[in-house]
Amino acid sequence: MRSTTEKSKARRRAPTLEEFFKPYGYEPFPRQKEFHTSPAKYRLFGGAAGPGKTKALLYEAILQAHKHPGVDTLLMRRTYPELEASLITYFRRDVPRELYEKYNEAKHTVSWLNGSTTRFAYCDSENDVYRYQGAEYLFIGVDELTHFTLKQWQFLTSRNRCRIRGAHPSMAGATNPGNIGHAWVKALWIDKAPAPGMERPDQYDPADYAFIRATLADNPLYKDDAQYHKTLRQLPEALRRAFLDGEWDVYAGQYFDIFAAAGAKNKAVIEQFTENASSTGGYVITFTSVVNNSLVSGIEIQ
Ligand SMILES: Nc1ncnc2c1ncn2[C@@H]1O[C@H](COP(=O)(O)OP(=O)(O)OP(=O)(O)O)[C@@H](O)[C@H]1O
Ligand SMILES: [Mg+2]
Repeated sequence: MRSTTEKSKARRRAPTLEEFFKPYGYEPFPRQKEFHTSPAKYRLFGGAAGPGKTKALLYEAILQAHKHPGVDTLLMRRTYPELEASLITYFRRDVPRELYEKYNEAKHTVSWLNGSTTRFAYCDSENDVYRYQGAEYLFIGVDELTHFTLKQWQFLTSRNRCRIRGAHPSMAGATNPGNIGHAWVKALWIDKAPAPGMERPDQYDPADYAFIRATLADNPLYKDDAQYHKTLRQLPEALRRAFLDGEWDVYAGQYFDIFAAAGAKNKAVIEQFTENASSTGGYVITFTSVVNNSLVSGIEIQ
């Protein structure tokens, strides 16, 4: 029999991850668990299709919202239709009704039983992110992070704080490689270097960033799904390498609309680099391969 002291100690100890998630019917897969337990300030999860990125992000927000009473957490996708089809759908489908106080449809905000909240949000245009000015969030999770710009991410970091002493504000992204944010996300988490466009590269601290890599093979529901594997294998090469293998070195301009982000029609910045001219003032540019008839019609040297 356990003594009264042991019983009250057990009552006081924080629940383990498994104990916390059990009432939600969520048992994190090993890679998801690694993501939930990483202590980094800025975590990036996934980097390929299907390992359970969106689901892990939703449950991370729930976990953080229960670390302290009365704190706010934020979950984002770039557009509302995407938000509704992913994070909001998973919340409504998977989170038992008795575990939250209410869900405000107009504000897309869940109030938890401890007075904390989780807000589902989006920012269609670059400046929509400033809607969140004035708010403070203990946790901010961004699904499909490469759909966002560096400027949006940087602004969101300023909203990531908590008035409670001892609280640990943090942010997380979940993503596949590719799209407009490919270069800055790759720099910060994969290459562990300041991103192109950062005004203060000297302020970049690699210790703040952790990449928890996961692919379809890390999702037991899909890892043996021969049909889905076949579908991914049949994708054009760049997409297949990005989604199935989680490769960050794919030639991003091939399949993702990065032209608009580079600020001009038909202009794409795949990778920015600095190169010194030779003693005779020349540069040599060599194309080693052309995949799927991609066309390079010009190179801008500034
Ligand atoms: N721990 C888990 N337990 C049970 N089912 C899970 C778990 N994690 C994810 N799933 C299920 O696996 C499927 C894929 O998960 P999810 O949509 O989160 O993956 P994803 O990595 O975001 O995929 P995508 O690359 O398509 O965005 C979903 O049906 C989800 O409900
Ligand atoms: Mg997803």
